[in-house]
Amino acid sequence: MYIGLDLGTSGLKGIVIDDAQVVLAEATAPLTVQRPHDGWSEQRPADWITAAEAVLDSLATQVDMSAVRGIGLSGHMHGATLLGADDAVLRPCILWNDTRSAAEAAELDANPYFRRLTGNIVFPGFTAPKLAWVRYNEPDTFKKVAKVLLPKDYLRLWLTGEHVAEMSDAAGTSWLDVGTRDWSDELLSATGLTRDHMPRLVEGSAVSGKVRAALGGRWGLGDVVVAGGGGDNAASAVGVGIVKPGQAFVSLGTSGVLFAASSNYQPDAASAVHTFCHALPDTWHQMGVILAAADALNWWAGVAGEDAATLTGSLGALQAPSRTLFLPYLGGERTPHNDAKIRGQFLHLDHATDRTAMTRAVLEGVTHAFRDSFDALTGTGTRIDRLIGVGGGTKSDYWVQAIATSLGLPVDLPVAGDFGGAFGAARLGLMAATGAGVEACGTPPIARTVEPIAALRDDFDAAHARYRAGYAALRGLA
Ligand code: XUL
Repeated sequence: MYIGLDLGTSGLKGIVIDDAQVVLAEATAPLTVQRPHDGWSEQRPADWITAAEAVLDSLATQVDMSAVRGIGLSGHMHGATLLGADDAVLRPCILWNDTRSAAEAAELDANPYFRRLTGNIVFPGFTAPKLAWVRYNEPDTFKKVAKVLLPKDYLRLWLTGEHVAEMSDAAGTSWLDVGTRDWSDELLSATGLTRDHMPRLVEGSAVSGKVRAALGGRWGLGDVVVAGGGGDNAASAVGVGIVKPGQAFVSLGTSGVLFAASSNYQPDAASAVHTFCHALPDTWHQMGVILAAADALNWWAGVAGEDAATLTGSLGALQAPSRTLFLPYLGGERTPHNDAKIRGQFLHLDHATDRTAMTRAVLEGVTHAFRDSFDALTGTGTRIDRLIGVGGGTKSDYWVQAIATSLGLPVDLPVAGDFGGAFGAARLGLMAATGAGVEACGTPPIARTVEPIAALRDDFDAAHARYRAGYAALRGLA
């Protein structure tokens, strides 16, 4: 048996699979985000451990954990977990959707080494500018930093006692030479750090360490290897078998991600597309990232005083977008704007605009954001033939149909069950424990395919053009 642990922004999920990759047990524990100031987004690493303990406690009531051979880790990317010399956490982790370090990011991005070696813009959400922010704003903390860990790698430290990162998550720090898959001394020194501050690097499907005996006994775990794992997007891709060119997924989670696998390193930083290492050796991927996807719907559900499923469940069949527009930039945007200052907008409200119209506008706005990412990705020459839909937002037929129509691509929806980050992490655990290769990463059985509605394509094109014009008109107002 193999365990996958996925540290998500809103909760930690664990699953257990057997050698045939059948899911035997699942458990989740909720997590919250602290937003002490506009643009800030933090979590306490101690809460991740509490959540992981609760998840493992629950899994241990469902299966005999002594049969577990491997664990894989997945987690939200880019977070800066700062540890002192004794591995004590120095401050709350600054998360992927925190944009406080916009000025520091722009400063680092102006240094041509960053785009040349990382293949990416230095976005405010990435890890290096966060360290630059701490250096300027919390110098006493910065002086104490002995190690910088990505969020899931802090879970690994707790599980194994080792400081280790893997390539897919390390690629989102702005310190990795993404083409050669190694830390860059030049980039580290630009933020006042050295290789000593970084964890050791392994591939996602390789062994990173073993579960500490003192810890594992609590759940009956024996001799268990911990795989490198992956950033949540790369781990999800492993989970749904997106490992070869032409294959892509659309993820409707807290963030929105359009992800395509590639066998070469082919960066195009200016497009605001992310080009990262995949969680498998010699493989890379590209993705467009929308900071608020299901997050935007959940925000709107909170304002409307209704739960998201009820709001979307009553929408009926897909219609042509109305004149009401929503720009989902609640905390700024990455692809294609790299704009930390822009905020969400509702446009064109009239006397007839009601809650239903605004719910549709929210789903359509995120759909237009995916169209932006699609245009950016395909503009770099990346081919996308069809999509697999993952993430909680795919429960809304309206939303999936809108995305299929706007992008002009069929969206395959896997059979019920979880094929996301936790499943991908479990697969990486299996690969590390058994030595299995990419053949372990098949595509899941598909329950149904949502085809684009050709008759609505022009309407979605026109609405997307208005959406683009809306951003162009409003960007200076932020
Ligand atoms: C990717 C990104 C998000 C987080 C949270 O670059 O920032 O997708 O990984 O899921």
